[in-house]
Amino acid sequence: MQNLIDISALDKQEISKLLKLATQFKTDQNNFIHDDIYPDKTVGSLFFEPSTRTKLSFQVATKNLGARFIDIHYSETSLQKGESIEDTIEAISLMGIDVLIIRHQDEVLKDLAIQFPNIKFINAGEGTSSHPTQALTDYMTMSEFSTNPDNLDISIVGDLDHSRVAASFIALLKIVGFKRLRLAGLPELCKNYQNNNFEYFDNLNEALRDSELIMALRIQNERLNKELSIKHTEYISRYQITLDSLRFANKDFLLFHPGPVNWGIELEKTIANIKNCKITNQVINGVAIRMAILSNIFSS
Ligand code: CP
Repeated sequence: MQNLIDISALDKQEISKLLKLATQFKTDQNNFIHDDIYPDKTVGSLFFEPSTRTKLSFQVATKNLGARFIDIHYSETSLQKGESIEDTIEAISLMGIDVLIIRHQDEVLKDLAIQFPNIKFINAGEGTSSHPTQALTDYMTMSEFSTNPDNLDISIVGDLDHSRVAASFIALLKIVGFKRLRLAGLPELCKNYQNNNFEYFDNLNEALRDSELIMALRIQNERLNKELSIKHTEYISRYQITLDSLRFANKDFLLFHPGPVNWGIELEKTIANIKNCKITNQVINGVAIRMAILSNIFSS
């Protein structure tokens, strides 16, 4: 793999290979191998938007593989003095960085990869369009807890229009397969999904009925350009996933959330403690899958 910019560039076999490798990097449910396999490799991260899970898991993954990690703080670069992203990346590429992990509010990765073929790029979340490493993390978690991960009845609930996680997850499901996919949320936050290609629901309970995998999403307030048409309390009463609403789901449902979670809004707090909730497993698998992605790119 040269770059990882779009999940659709991978086929099912390549995804399976990454999952297998990620699983080998886990020593048990919560731990990873630490081995100086790539001491000559240097990874840089350049995040134009905040991140906890993605950036830190890449940092831990890089160190677990024995490579060097350089966190390039956007606020301390000459981008702040008006330098273009192209000139910044050119400078970075001249300093021996092999792989550059970028999170950006716009779709910039494809063009950068064309302009700078000597550096390998990983998309750590781009605008509202894609977050491929999160999709792989979620697929790894599905595969860990389901005997039939490619044939699940899946519901995604929340602010779908602004969710790059949802966009990449849906793209991944189209590659690996699914039984049924329902999308639900406030209509004004799901405009892109209200057409014949998608099964959209305004009603939460209908969207959760018999569902085997439920992915909750937060409202991306930082991307809204106007206030919602309904009050906060009404949003919660209509779209919050609660223990009560989960009665409609399949008895063995898995509950995912890519994080960060706004507890008390999209998810009732008590849900964190139920065995079906796999949010912590998603975070743990984030390290393993990013070790696999880095290892694959280092070796290519
Ligand atoms: N899921 C995710 O991308 O989380 P962070 O914003 O914390 O990286």
